Amino acid sequence: MKNETTVRVTPEEMAAQARFAREFSALPERPKTYFIVTYGCQMNAHDSEKLAGMLEEMGLAPAPAREQADFVLHNTCCIRDNAERKALGNVTWLKEIKKERPEMLIGVCGCMVQEPGMAEKLLRQYPFVDVAFGTGNIHRLPELLYRAVETKRRVVSVPDEQSTLIEGLPIRRESPFQAYVTIMYGCNNFCSYCIVPYVRGRERSREMKDILAEVEGLQKKGVQEIMLLGQNVNSYGNDVPGGVTFPRLLHEVSRLGIPRIRFMTSHPKDLSDELIREMAENPALCRHLHLPVQSGSNRILEAMNRRYTRESYLEKVEKIRKAAPDVGLTTDLIVAFPGETDADFEDTMDLARRVCFDSAFTFIYSPREGTRAAKMPGRVDPALATERIERLIALQEEMTQKRFAEMIGKTESVLVTGQSRRNETQFTGKTSRNISVNFEGGADMIGKIVQVKITAASKTTLKGVVEGDA
Ligand code: 5AD
Ligand code: SF4
Repeated sequence: MKNETTVRVTPEEMAAQARFAREFSALPERPKTYFIVTYGCQMNAHDSEKLAGMLEEMGLAPAPAREQADFVLHNTCCIRDNAERKALGNVTWLKEIKKERPEMLIGVCGCMVQEPGMAEKLLRQYPFVDVAFGTGNIHRLPELLYRAVETKRRVVSVPDEQSTLIEGLPIRRESPFQAYVTIMYGCNNFCSYCIVPYVRGRERSREMKDILAEVEGLQKKGVQEIMLLGQNVNSYGNDVPGGVTFPRLLHEVSRLGIPRIRFMTSHPKDLSDELIREMAENPALCRHLHLPVQSGSNRILEAMNRRYTRESYLEKVEKIRKAAPDVGLTTDLIVAFPGETDADFEDTMDLARRVCFDSAFTFIYSPREGTRAAKMPGRVDPALATERIERLIALQEEMTQKRFAEMIGKTESVLVTGQSRRNETQFTGKTSRNISVNFEGGADMIGKIVQVKITAASKTTLKGVVEGDA
């Protein structure tokens, strides 16, 4: 992988792709419907919205189910082994459907395809895959699909460098009132367990003016909540001359008037006082901070190349809580990193108890080929890893209940996101702190922010009673 400077995809290249899209829609024998299967994080979910946007410009319409689609595209993830196995398993499953419907085209894209050696593997072992491309060239979907259909041959295109910055893709957004906005691509951190920097490339920040223009468009459409996306949003702007910081971006974005602004993900080492101040002072910023700690042991944090200590993490938590006591913290935790002893694991348990996160995503370490940790000695026995993660989950459930108990009796602003499938008078939404709340309501509330008095808590959600509009 080369370490290159950012290459902005030119307007000419984007125009060429738009031409491919138009020519594709005029092809007599072409797929008419599509279905996208998405794995992994919000970044991938948002990439799928862009893929759908391009496919619709090419004249394809969404299919109700993947078995019925003319083109099924798998937008894959490779962060852990099980994500990869799941994607490959589903691709293989479609092979059978394709036997009955040979005109079906199968595509694979996303992080997994960008892994070294994967394109060759797909070519060799998955002969029923018609189109494959990486994360660095998603804008070329019109051209690649055009070539596959026109030549009736397989098209595999994976760029070996990851330096592109793509502006101006069409986006078919899933929700009319919530929207993702990418602010930066890639990651420079090389945490020793993580494959992301290898498949998503170096950090590339979008220009602030492009982000603001996108957000302004969303505000005009009545979007109530945006989520700013990046692997490490706290280093937004580091790669751009002129030095725009993430807190400054937040400040500018919030002036455009969208009621709720979220962001994901913050690396603790780059969490600045300026950001804490902005969180404390800016009412448009949601009262939630996802701050992955990964481990509570200094020895393991060092081996992970996280570049902070448990003490400095706890200090930052203190600072946030002092400045903005209503901000809920969530985290990611990895157990059974190579060499993790009982004492290291107890340090993680201790940290989770001390911080008392609202919730945590917990993972068993999964070796990823090509990363530094994959070569480290001291693999933890799988049975012990399972035992540890179960203890950690049980502890976190206890902590979540503690946090929920503090919320009972309070009135919260809730963005209503949907209706329960089982009971049509039941609605669901999210508090500013990102906790799910269920309540009795009406369909006219969907997409609005309402005031809900919290009355009870279950294991993962709150219950409440609507008090009125915001
Ligand atoms: N094994 C287990 N968990 C991982 N994560 C990233 N890489 C791995 C891995 N190899 C987790 C980290 C990260 C989250 C997105 O996924 O906790 O924060
Ligand atoms: Fe992976 Fe670390 Fe970058 Fe997050 S910050 S994407 S865990 S390398």
